[in-house]
Amino acid sequence: MQCSWKAVILLALASIAIQYTAIRTLTSKPFQLCPVPSPQNCGLLGGPETESPMEGRAGCDDYPYFSFNTSRKTHIMVLATTRSGSSFVGQLLNQHADIFYLFEPLYHVQTTLIPRLSHSRNAADRRVMLGASRDLLRSLYGCDLYFLESYIKPAPANHTTDKLFRRGASRALCSQPVCDAFGPTDANVEEGDCVKKCAALNMTLAADACREKRHVAIKVVRVPEIGDLRALVEDPRLNIKVIQLVRDPRGILSSRIETFRDTYRLWRIWRATGRRPYNLDLSQLTVVCEDFLGSVSTGLSHPHWLKGKYMLVRYEDLSRNPLLKTMEIYDFLGLSMDKSVEEWIQTNTRGSTELSAKHKYGTVRDSAANAESWRLKLSYDMVEYTQATCQKVLHQLGYKAVKSAEELKNMSLSLVQDKTFVPFS
Ligand SMILES: *[C@@H]1O[C@H](CO)[C@@H](O)[C@H](O)[C@H]1NC(C)=O
Ligand SMILES: *[C@@H]1O[C@H](CO)[C@@H](O)[C@H](O)[C@H]1NC(C)=O
Ligand SMILES: *[C@@H]1O[C@H](CO)[C@@H](O)[C@H](O)[C@H]1NC(C)=O
Ligand SMILES: *[C@@H]1O[C@H](CO)[C@@H](O)[C@H](O)[C@H]1NC(C)=O
Repeated sequence: MQCSWKAVILLALASIAIQYTAIRTLTSKPFQLCPVPSPQNCGLLGGPETESPMEGRAGCDDYPYFSFNTSRKTHIMVLATTRSGSSFVGQLLNQHADIFYLFEPLYHVQTTLIPRLSHSRNAADRRVMLGASRDLLRSLYGCDLYFLESYIKPAPANHTTDKLFRRGASRALCSQPVCDAFGPTDANVEEGDCVKKCAALNMTLAADACREKRHVAIKVVRVPEIGDLRALVEDPRLNIKVIQLVRDPRGILSSRIETFRDTYRLWRIWRATGRRPYNLDLSQLTVVCEDFLGSVSTGLSHPHWLKGKYMLVRYEDLSRNPLLKTMEIYDFLGLSMDKSVEEWIQTNTRGSTELSAKHKYGTVRDSAANAESWRLKLSYDMVEYTQATCQKVLHQLGYKAVKSAEELKNMSLSLVQDKTFVPFS
């Protein structure tokens, strides 16, 4: 029994690897490590692409890895986990006129390589995804959006697709010249309207739009920890700045139970009955804490490779003080925060309840109410269990443990300790 069970896992892993290799082979050469563009090559880099870039990639020299002045481009990554406010932070970047923003492109890698795992629980599976993810991110930061097509199903024809995940969350992909449905005066296009009214996405136009912006920002929830990104951070062709978003794991758990109703069904049963189901998948919680702990330990130990490239942001601080935190984020990025970002914050965090109800940002609702509202939703034994499992990381991030149900429900006592995480510069 034991043996055949292992064999099945091995087979599954092997088939994932084979699929990935096939994708790499099919898409020819964008993976190979090209030399850093020399100043003499710079003239070339701005030039028009050949008609068929997919065929033109015989080697590094004739492939314009970066389309223009890379020294000025900042490659921003929002590193987060689901239900930690990452969509909100993504929007803070998306609203900036000089930033091209992509919402979670790694979704396509996961659905292609590990289709049955919507919430990855197996460490080995997650590692398998990493190599593919890094390659894709490297290409996307270079505005090579064609590379993403290998992972989109059904495969785009003529570089056109209507299946790009959450296309509507990206402003550049919902406005001219990528989409003609809205004029320049349509300031904030709703995500659903964009998907409904824009024609299928022309990836060539999307890539052009990416090149026109000075910076690229990508939201990522499918990379376990910052250490997994070292190869990207150290890549001399990139100028990566990572904003790591963390949140109290107890809050994440509570929010996931509300949001992912199927996947977290057993947790709801626990909450409703007071009994922990024997077949509860505890890794749905432990993985969050392990990943946070790994990341935060690495980040806060200030390794040389993260110098100037890492900022830790707590969701709770952001939702209490969105404007101030956003200014700190832009400060870290070395960009000036433009007016539209500020206006977006005003509109989405202080607007009437009617307005905020229309938006999907958890942080918005929570900041209006309370970033600690999970305390009224989780049962004490769930909280106690989480505290025991995540003890180290709670302490490291300044989240206080409660010792009784009374303390848990006493909202006049905040569990978020003041803590400053100064970016390492
Ligand atoms: C690239 O950007 C740097 C910094 O802004 C600037 O000094 C340099 O002249 C630019 N190079 C080109 C080829 O535009
Ligand atoms: C792709 O473009 C070609 C040439 O314009 C056309 O003949 C073909 O039907 C297109 N394919 C699809 C799936 O739209
Ligand atoms: C996509 O846009 C490019 C650039 O404007 C254009 O040449 C191409 O025909 C468009 N593709 C489709 C399928 O419309
Ligand atoms: C709630 O906490 C506050 C602050 O520690 C305390 O003064 C108060 O008595 C507590 N209320 C209850 C009902 O326990």
